[in-house]
Parts: sequence; C-alpha cells; structure tokens
Amino acid sequence: NWTMLNIVEDAVTAVQAQIGPEGRAICALSGGVDSAVAAAIVQRAIGDRLTCVFVDHGLLRKGEAEQVERDFVAATGVNLRVVDAADRFLDALSGVTEPEEKRKIIGREFIRVFEDEQRAIMKDGPVDFLVQGTLYPDVVESGGGTGTANIKSHHNVGGLPEDLRFELVEPLRTLFKDEVRRAGEELGLPPAMVWRQPFPGPGLGIRIIGAVTADRLDILREADAIAREELSRAGLDREIWQCPVVLLADVRSVGVQGDGRTYGHPVVLRPVTSEDAMTADWARVPYDVLSRISTRITNEVREVNRVVIDVTSKPPGTIEWE
Ligand code: XMP
Repeated sequence: NWTMLNIVEDAVTAVQAQIGPEGRAICALSGGVDSAVAAAIVQRAIGDRLTCVFVDHGLLRKGEAEQVERDFVAATGVNLRVVDAADRFLDALSGVTEPEEKRKIIGREFIRVFEDEQRAIMKDGPVDFLVQGTLYPDVVESGGGTGTANIKSHHNVGGLPEDLRFELVEPLRTLFKDEVRRAGEELGLPPAMVWRQPFPGPGLGIRIIGAVTADRLDILREADAIAREELSRAGLDREIWQCPVVLLADVRSVGVQGDGRTYGHPVVLRPVTSEDAMTADWARVPYDVLSRISTRITNEVREVNRVVIDVTSKPPGTIEWE
C-alpha cells in the first residue's frame, strides 16, 4: 500500500530528526497494537538505541506474552527487556476486591517496575526519550476537554510514567486506529497483535470479580481462550468490538458434570458491538456459536460449571465489569 508506506517512512524520518544521531529512547510494550507500532517505527529509525521494556504483570491472556517476547521481537528485531513481575503483582493484589483499588495497585506497580528497568538501562548511558503510542483521538480528547465523566481510572500500559525528565516521542499522534493497524501490517507485525481487539491495561485483574489469585487467573485464561477461539472461528472478530469473559470468583452454583455433583463458578460472556467504546450494545452472537463456547468451556475448564451471557447495553452497563 503506497500511501501507508509513505506514512511509515515519514514517521521514521520524523523520529530520526527528533532523536538525533546519538539519542536513546525507551518504550513500554503492553501487547497492544499502539505501543507495538510506535516501537516498531522508532526501532526502524534508531535501531538498538531504542530499548523496549515488557512488564509481564501476569494478567495477560493466553499467548499474549509470547506474542510480544517471541513474535514481535522476531518481526522487528527490537531490543527487548522482559520483566516477569507476575508474583509481584499477585502479592500486591492479594485479598483486594474493590475495582478501583485493583486498578490503582496495578498502575502503581507497573510504574515501579518500569522505573527500576529505566534505571538499569540508564547505567549504559543517558536516555532522554520516552516512546508512547498516543493516537490522534487521544490527542484531541486530552486537549479538547470534552468533559466526559471519568468513570474508571484508566491505565494504559503504553501511557506511563508522567515523567518530565523525558521528552516524548509519539509517532502515531496524527493517526487513527485503522491507520495504525495498516501501518502495523506494513511493518510486518504479527497479525494477532495488529488486529487485537481492545484489552484493558489492568488485564484479567479486572475480569475476576473478587480477589485475584494465580488459580483464578488460570481458570479465566482458559475460558477466555476458548471464547476467543470460537468467535474467531465463526468469523465474528470484525463484527464484535470485544468480548470480555468475566469470572464470578466468589459465586458458586450447583451443577452436574461427568457423573457427579459439582459446585463451581460461573463465567459471563460480555460480547459487545461498538463504534468507540463510549456506548455499546450487546452483540447478537448466533446461538450455535454461544452453544459451542458454553459446551467447550464447561467441558474443558473443570472449575466452571455455568456460562451466562450479559445482555446489557452501555449505558447503563460499562463494557468491563470493573
Ligand atoms: P468500559 O468498561 O469503561 O470500557 O465501558 C471502555 C473500553 O475501555 C477499555 N478499558 C480500558 N482500556 N485501560 C485501557 O487501556 C483501562 O484501564 C481500561 N479499562 C477499560 C475496555 O476494554 C473497553 O474497550
């Protein structure tokens, strides 16, 4: 695609001009498309003078950490530092059930881990630039002050720390999401990353209703992977904005699985259609697809004996449960 090629090349040239021939930059990767495309552009511009940091908080979905550590690195040659911080996040979240508190803890721990890495990277020399995947709509939103109520404290892994010692590099500032995806394709990034549906920075931590534990994360990761697989197989990825799978970890109900009574947990499917996530409608997923998801989850995830569907629009319901 000729125009996309130009957009990527122009962005690379602009980054080179901004950072100069000696400057070094760091970038936090989240697994999402924005930080990945921003990092890939800066990598093209300055090569190994960019260091990417991937904080694995243990709250990602099945396969997502590998996508960053293996596929993204293979596609871009980016210089990546991986921090396995899952235990640290689990410790910090231990016993916490209140949604805003979870969000604050995850955001705070993320900044701490990232700052530790930053200090380590700076031992090899100064770093003056921080790469962020800010898109045009984010620029408009923050400058425009349209006064949308802040209902949940949002955490964008790419959008941290508010540290004035850095000059920001924002190669996607003029682009919309669909242009970012096309740029990602142009840059040869893994399709699963380029086409990933929205996923919140606090990850599965806000999709477990109740305290977050390693076991509960495993259960949710399996159920979520099955739902994603069946929705993709049915060709619904582009029609559905996203489909959170939510584990009601403190709820149990009686079931019968195999030859015995069970007392397991329900998961909620929350498929929605939307233009911009400000409003949403529940998606009319075909019954046969829902049926396959339900059968597979209850067969394959031992701890789950009930699958329910959320038929609430936004408003009044938000897309995520927390
Ligand atoms: P809600 O639940 O507010 O979600 O209807 C709207 C959209 O935002 C996503 N979301 C987040 N994205 N950091 C993010 O980067 C967050 O903390 C966060 N919380 C919600 C949500 O998945 C939906 O697409």
